[in-house]
Amino acid sequence: MYADGDAEQQPIKSVVFIIAMQAEAAPLIAALGLKHDSPPRIPPPGPCVTYSGSHAGLDVHVVWSGHDNEHNVDLIGTVPASLATYLACQAFNPDLIISAGTAGGFKARGAAIGDVFVSTGKMHHDRRIPLPGFDKQGLGYVESTPTPQLRAALGLKAGIVTSGNSLDYTEQDMQIMNKHGAAVKEMEAAAIAWVAQMFRKPMFCVKAVTDIVDGDRATQEEFLENLNAAAAALQQTLPKVLQFVAGKTIAQL
Ligand code: ADE
Repeated sequence: MYADGDAEQQPIKSVVFIIAMQAEAAPLIAALGLKHDSPPRIPPPGPCVTYSGSHAGLDVHVVWSGHDNEHNVDLIGTVPASLATYLACQAFNPDLIISAGTAGGFKARGAAIGDVFVSTGKMHHDRRIPLPGFDKQGLGYVESTPTPQLRAALGLKAGIVTSGNSLDYTEQDMQIMNKHGAAVKEMEAAAIAWVAQMFRKPMFCVKAVTDIVDGDRATQEEFLENLNAAAAALQQTLPKVLQFVAGKTIAQL
């Protein structure tokens, strides 16, 4: 979509996955037999940890946003995600970026626990700036690289992915998500999309649903209950995505 014209006509050779949580990345790394990059391809103080290998003839890199040493948890959210994407573009110059992970899904848009969605667009739902121009910049809508054939071949649902830096949401967040038809809510995609656009890299999301945003269960409870199952669904899907992408151009997705 926003790759240079020439690049869009070339077969895709390298793919970078940007993933926030180790629990989301680990099954994929194991399934693809990727190796921890040592010496690091993204040197300190960059917090990201990278794994590389090949699959279906593609160079594949998984970039995990990293570990917060102070709080002993994963570095989730938009700030580490944009840093990871910037450093990954510099280190790997990929032909395609995929934001992969778990997310909340909207039952109003047909989401159920364990479903895997592909993005049609990404935006922020928690940046409210009611000033001329800044309003749209805050929302930061970025169209996804179109993937009609990939979605049809793999039977994946599709929709708008919105990002915010909270697992819960405010009433205003919900108004924005509803107004823009959010199908999926998570914490990184819009930031990754912003940096991908900066580097003119094609990008879309693949997100597995752990919880229902417009349901009646507490998000954190549902999230923890379904994290492993959703990570497994993701791990089933992502190698198939690579298989589909291999040998194709961006325009053929
Ligand atoms: N990750 C998984 N579920 C989520 C939700 N409901 N909101 C934000 N990030 C999520």
